[in-house]
Amino acid sequence: MCGIVAYIGSKQALPILIGGLRRLEYRGYDSAGLAVFENGQPCLVKAVGKIDNLSEKLKNQSFDSTFGIAHTRWATHGGVTEPNTHPHTDCTGNIVLAHNGIIENYRELKESLGSNHRYTSETDSEVLAHLIEKEYTGDLRQAVLSALGQVRGTYGLAIMHKDHPGTLVCARMGSPLVIGLGENEYFVASDATPMLAYTKNVIFLEDGEVAEIKRTDMHIVNLKDQQVAKKVSKIEWDEASAQKQGFAHFMLKEIFDQPTVLQDAIRGRFKLADGTAHLGGLNMSEPEMREIKRIVLIACGTASYAAMAGKYMFERLAGIPVEVDVASEFRYRDPIIDNQTLVFGISQSGETADTLAALKEAKRKGAFVRGIVNVVGSTIARETDGGTYIHAGPELAVASTKAFTNMTAILLLYALQFGRLNKLSVATGQRLLAALTEIPEKMKLILQQSDKIKELAEKYKNARDFLFLGRGVNFPVALEGSLKLKEISYIHSEAVPGGEMKHGPIALLSPEFPVFAIMTKNQLYDKMRSNIEEVKARKAPIILIATEGDLGAADLAQDVIYVPPTMELLEPLLNTLPLQLFAYHMAVALGRDVDRPRNLAKSVTVE
Ligand code: G6P
Repeated sequence: MCGIVAYIGSKQALPILIGGLRRLEYRGYDSAGLAVFENGQPCLVKAVGKIDNLSEKLKNQSFDSTFGIAHTRWATHGGVTEPNTHPHTDCTGNIVLAHNGIIENYRELKESLGSNHRYTSETDSEVLAHLIEKEYTGDLRQAVLSALGQVRGTYGLAIMHKDHPGTLVCARMGSPLVIGLGENEYFVASDATPMLAYTKNVIFLEDGEVAEIKRTDMHIVNLKDQQVAKKVSKIEWDEASAQKQGFAHFMLKEIFDQPTVLQDAIRGRFKLADGTAHLGGLNMSEPEMREIKRIVLIACGTASYAAMAGKYMFERLAGIPVEVDVASEFRYRDPIIDNQTLVFGISQSGETADTLAALKEAKRKGAFVRGIVNVVGSTIARETDGGTYIHAGPELAVASTKAFTNMTAILLLYALQFGRLNKLSVATGQRLLAALTEIPEKMKLILQQSDKIKELAEKYKNARDFLFLGRGVNFPVALEGSLKLKEISYIHSEAVPGGEMKHGPIALLSPEFPVFAIMTKNQLYDKMRSNIEEVKARKAPIILIATEGDLGAADLAQDVIYVPPTMELLEPLLNTLPLQLFAYHMAVALGRDVDRPRNLAKSVTVE
């Protein structure tokens, strides 16, 4: 939610800032702006809309500056206007600040600042610039520390001052900031992707830390101005993995990444001979694992559907009851948690505010709290007491795709690990693992059908509504297919379990209301087939996902997408792919902005 980039060094700042904003655009794209030091003056340029608009505005300007800050906004306080676009300044224009997060007590602060301050925006962030102005007596870091002592809320901050053309001050509370270390240069950003082309050495700022960065050195202090020692981490993602690599959109590239990154997720994490997984990051002894009586999976959005698939896996393989909770609900209903409960927070970004808060609540109540996260070094990864990285690589399209399949694969491995400690046989474990290793090749066979799915999208692009049906472990797949479609094509869609349709949703069906159903060969095949007959009787057009060789499928439906067979619990790893491709091609056919759908942001760091 909102992205910050800053650079101080000897290179031209502008291309680094614009390039960095493009990498962070997934965090919000209502408007964007930047400030660079030019001839001793901070010079601001802002534009409403996507980074392209800012870039267009900068086309005829040349800046030699080697120091600047930039911001891409997802509006919270104040409409989408140029004055509300960051960076913001104080009354004098000397202090320039980019902020990610929410200053909760901005009204009180504004009141206490009195009527002498002139505001040019409706944002909470601008109040902070004025507060720093009030506290400033010649030392920027001290002024920032004094101001932050009065602030309630969350922030990732990059601040510059006209009188300190070689000093960048950054601070973090609840909104991530990564500092990249170059040679006599520093990069700062909300995640590491803007700096991948320049450095792999980074420092993750923690909550309550403030960095004073000059071209040749940096000091990190806490809010009491005490020096903090920091560890340098190495980022393993490479620059190429954060590029489109010839694909028309990041989303399509990320869909096609799945066979490769699934292998990255499972490699070295299981032992075929023992029929079990070894996810060492779990950080629990075998006796502790045996004591677990309940598992709670907490997530938002797509991650919550991976969690739902995980529930079927844990319950079937390990016999442990599992609850799936949407994070924003979990934290406000006084959940029942004890020290025999294992809580997993599942998150691509590792920064989702609701998930993070829910995990903190679970920890406070004494549960084992672990993370299943993609972004290395992210807040959830650091605030949990262990867990597993899903190794999906950078996911930059707002609509999540490869993170879903990799989360699901990791949940399967965990279910197997707990299952083998309980009653699951070596033979079943081995069969599951053998089937898992075949998934990447089978994914490739599905991806080869992309052009066929594109034709389907052309055929159905004028539909106003869609119903997705699935049963058992394919119900979360239906939910995910429906979410993908509505997120990027803006077509209304719903997902219900096949057996539930007769209790209400069937009333919606008509020849104008297409149904996308998953009817692969598993123990619920016959039940699902009957549900689809019910749809057919109402003359709703049907698209089916069916198992290769299921000759009867074509009689039921207008269109069929065939997928290779696999074991039932692994079906989400295959059946989700046609739905991702369908949503993608529908959005393209309708001329939508696939990678940056309206109103959404990839990383939601506000509650
Ligand atoms: C946002 C994104 C979704 C994502 C959800 C959870 O709503 O638009 O695509 O699934 O956040 O994000 P996380 O990073 O926690 O997986």
